Amino acid sequence: MEIIETDCLVIGAGLAGSAYALHAARAGRRVELLALDGPLVANSDWAQGGIIYEPGAPARLGADIVAASDGTSNPAAGEQLVREGPAAVKELLLGELGVAFDRDAAGALDLTREGGHSARRILHAKDLTGHAILAAVAARVDATPGITRRGGWVAVDLLTLSHSTDLVAERYAPLTCFGAYVLDTASGVVRAIIARRTVLAAGGLGQIFLHTTNQPGSVGHGVAMAYRVGARLIDLEYVQFHPTAFHRPNAPGFLVTEALRGEGAVIVNARGERFVDRVHPTGSLAPRDVVARAVHLELAASGEPCAYLDLGALPPDFLRARFPTVAARCAAHGVDVDRGPIPVVPAAHFSCGGVHTDLAGRTNVRNLGAIGETACTGLHGANRLASTSLLECLVGARAAAAAAVTELAAERDPLPRPRPWRGADRPADPTLIRQDLELVRSTMWNYAGIVRSSRRLARARRILLELREEIQGFYRDCRPTRELLELRNAVQTALLVVHAAALNPRSRGCHHVVAED
Ligand code: SIN
Repeated sequence: MEIIETDCLVIGAGLAGSAYALHAARAGRRVELLALDGPLVANSDWAQGGIIYEPGAPARLGADIVAASDGTSNPAAGEQLVREGPAAVKELLLGELGVAFDRDAAGALDLTREGGHSARRILHAKDLTGHAILAAVAARVDATPGITRRGGWVAVDLLTLSHSTDLVAERYAPLTCFGAYVLDTASGVVRAIIARRTVLAAGGLGQIFLHTTNQPGSVGHGVAMAYRVGARLIDLEYVQFHPTAFHRPNAPGFLVTEALRGEGAVIVNARGERFVDRVHPTGSLAPRDVVARAVHLELAASGEPCAYLDLGALPPDFLRARFPTVAARCAAHGVDVDRGPIPVVPAAHFSCGGVHTDLAGRTNVRNLGAIGETACTGLHGANRLASTSLLECLVGARAAAAAAVTELAAERDPLPRPRPWRGADRPADPTLIRQDLELVRSTMWNYAGIVRSSRRLARARRILLELREEIQGFYRDCRPTRELLELRNAVQTALLVVHAAALNPRSRGCHHVVAED
């Protein structure tokens, strides 16, 4: 088995992973950066709305983060974001990379608003903000010596002293990570990358649900791998559903940005009624959990397949110039934004929980970090404030890389060698993989989605436990492929979400439990 040795192994090349790689490499560290696909295939690339930039009013932003979370977010994490966020945006995005955020006629940054925000404070690049940011950061990563980006390389399992060496004494040492077994999906070869720091930046888990705004492959890879080595997980019941994903039968759902509502669009039902106004004083601009639930309950009561985003308040020219992605994607599926409303349904969007870390991205497993959506510092509590996620990636990556670089200066010991990879060689049946993944996704959507009950969660658990048994056998007997690894991690992550949801009887933020019928 080939072994690659490095200082930092970063699993995931979205905004968090790429920013971490940049900071670590600039401090002289060698970085292996694993990308599931090409450099821009990440949830950060699909973030339409924007990134918060409000240098002058930290208290006001902090209060909005707490209010959106229904009073459950970690104050220290909120303070870090509001304290370090403006400098992170200013230095890297506005200064060094010159990301082309929209500006007004006078050249000043144009700020928009989204649900739960008490001020216009969101920088945006039309409705392609995540793409504009990630493209700039990824280009800088490519130009930075010391970073090796590995496209199509997927982490299989983390290496720890207790799980992956033959050193008897190490089994009783504190949990310590030293890299990962990694599959090169093009050649099918599994290698070990051994590293002084391993950082999970593998994105979210929306793809364990039938309807999602997430990129294919977002099945909680980081959460599942962390769980298998004993890392602490937290708040996994808090899966945020976005209220407005495009809906057309047999067409792919995609995000219809909340910034449209920030600019005046409103959610209505098939009769044109603004039903969200009945449940919250700020109506369509209420925190996301409130709006998603209102849409879900309205559809359940009416039997309608979708709600609508009424764009009547937005002049067509403005709409097309400011939201070209949404307009083009709607047009591709037969919806002309000049004429009619956009049909929308809620969809799984963001995992507020994840692998527990401190504010420097450290988990309870030595030398294992987590950042971005994979991690949970408690910033979002039970519900995330819109447009905090890209900022969290930047701030978290910077803090985690700085801590790692400082700590690594004192580390000299040679890295341990892992046991050789032993895997089966039988090809996996793709039909079984597809079918099992569909079962995970429909089970999660129907029994562990926007509205949960203990009976539904128990049903989900039974189905998923049986399925996990099957999949584990399948995994042991077959050659690893990207699809098989995805399935294995999807069923594990789904069980973890269901378990967390079943343990928490209290409705808060995005976790909504109803009494049994
Ligand atoms: C959106 O544009 O509606 C999504 C932004 C976010 O999730 O923060």
